[in-house]
Amino acid sequence: MTKDNKQNHSTDGENWIYSEGVRDHFFSPKNVLYDEANYAADGVGTVGSPECGDVMYVWIKVDKKTGRIKECKWRTFGCASAIASASMMSVMATENGGMDLKTAQNLKPQQIVERLGGLPDRKFHCSVLGHKALRNAVLNYLEYAK
Ligand code: FES
Repeated sequence: MTKDNKQNHSTDGENWIYSEGVRDHFFSPKNVLYDEANYAADGVGTVGSPECGDVMYVWIKVDKKTGRIKECKWRTFGCASAIASASMMSVMATENGGMDLKTAQNLKPQQIVERLGGLPDRKFHCSVLGHKALRNAVLNYLEYAK
């Protein structure tokens, strides 16, 4: 988290002021999937949070020619920070022609948090759900793409 981001947040758990990015992605989440039964994903990843017990699902479609992620969908039973983080993660995974699979596997929660403009420290674990579920979705794809 940058110094500026820290200045935008109270992390005492009483008076959180979420960044513009977190509020945008929480109120207008991108790439949420509600009907996975009718979505032909190439890879699926699930992860649960030991901290809070919440769950994140990620589904990806991969362009077989380029090896890049062309769609990244998700759904979570997590909090506002998890929703905003997953939404941002899905944008990052598919922007600029799509992330290659190696980059997606190495995506760090810090990168997601940076793009959101920061998260309160005690909410950082929420941003971990999206990147771990994405990594699992890529591994799932690679397992069946052999
Ligand atoms: S508190 Fe569980 S995902 Fe945020």
